[in-house]
Amino acid sequence: MASSAQIKAMLQSHGSGDNDRFYAVALQVAAAEARRGHDRLAKEIQEMVEKARLAKSNQRAASIVPLSMPQGEAADLLEEVPGNCRVSDLILSQPLRDRVSRILEEQRNLSQLKEHGLRPRQKLLFTGPPGCGKTMTASALAAELSLPLFVVRLDGLITRYLGDSLSKLRLVFDAVNRSRAVYLFDEFDSIGYTREFANEVGEMRRLLNSFLMFIEKLNSNSLVVAATNHGSRLDKALYRRFDDLIEFGLPGDEETWTTIRTRMAGVHTASLSQAKLLPAAKGLSFAEITRACEEAVKGMLIGGRKSVTTDMLVNALTERRLFLNH
Ligand SMILES: Nc1ncnc2c1ncn2[C@@H]1O[C@H](COP(=O)(O)OP(=O)(O)OP(=O)(O)O)[C@@H](O)[C@H]1O
Ligand SMILES: [Mg+2]
Repeated sequence: MASSAQIKAMLQSHGSGDNDRFYAVALQVAAAEARRGHDRLAKEIQEMVEKARLAKSNQRAASIVPLSMPQGEAADLLEEVPGNCRVSDLILSQPLRDRVSRILEEQRNLSQLKEHGLRPRQKLLFTGPPGCGKTMTASALAAELSLPLFVVRLDGLITRYLGDSLSKLRLVFDAVNRSRAVYLFDEFDSIGYTREFANEVGEMRRLLNSFLMFIEKLNSNSLVVAATNHGSRLDKALYRRFDDLIEFGLPGDEETWTTIRTRMAGVHTASLSQAKLLPAAKGLSFAEITRACEEAVKGMLIGGRKSVTTDMLVNALTERRLFLNH
């Protein structure tokens, strides 16, 4: 039985909304019961405390997520991309995987971090060649956090709304601040080019400055991801405006082999020769290797063959390379 002091403490903490103290006293009661040999009761109280704590923290997280989606004109500027991949689908080197996990951990614990005056990573810069996972990673982050993914094509914003792109960007950031989601600003180099270039085109310079001001004053728990194929062209002074820089690269041997194995899973293959396939895939992106695997499988099906052989895959990879170098 709880002592009268414990009952009083629980009533007091309940009245003042001090959940942590309430749970602490409940756990003291459980510990006292355990000492008396009432193990089942002790365990039951402990489990009830854990459940209540979890429910409270979910409630807190939910109250941070506004339910409204971007509406009106902003909806035209944002393309919602259905998230259908998870982090486990990404083939990444360990250091990159760790970076992605850290972003997720910080986002998942954002209320705790904010209670201590800390800001989770939310402004991300993704650089790297086409087809190496920038969009896929943004999509996986959104799926893991159960958030929608919106893509804003900055080059499109400039060409479609020449002369009016600043006010459109403001609309986009109104949405960023109002509706928690992952916002991917693709083709970031179209405004984040070296400063000298941006200076030549007044509207771009103003757009870049506005973008930087908006992310500086970000007032929501949205994730802002700027992505570019041309990281080296960016003004390096831009980097410090972001919380994290993730540099995606072409797959190394290990990632190439994993991509091939993953893409061929569920398909009959003759024993595939790594020694022949790795050189054939060298320099190709994840997307191109994926494409070559699909072509090889198509060849098997259409040719009425029973399996995909190393030669079929080598041919498909070579064809992709020739196609790209054309
Ligand atoms: N790291 C990866 N792991 C697994 N598959 C990948 C990876 N990167 C790319 N792919 C495959 O390639 C496709 C295209 O990748 P993604 O759209 O992420 O490229 P990107 O880096 O955004 O390219 P772009 O610069 O052209 O926008 C993905 O849908 C997926 O099939
Ligand atoms: Mg992309």
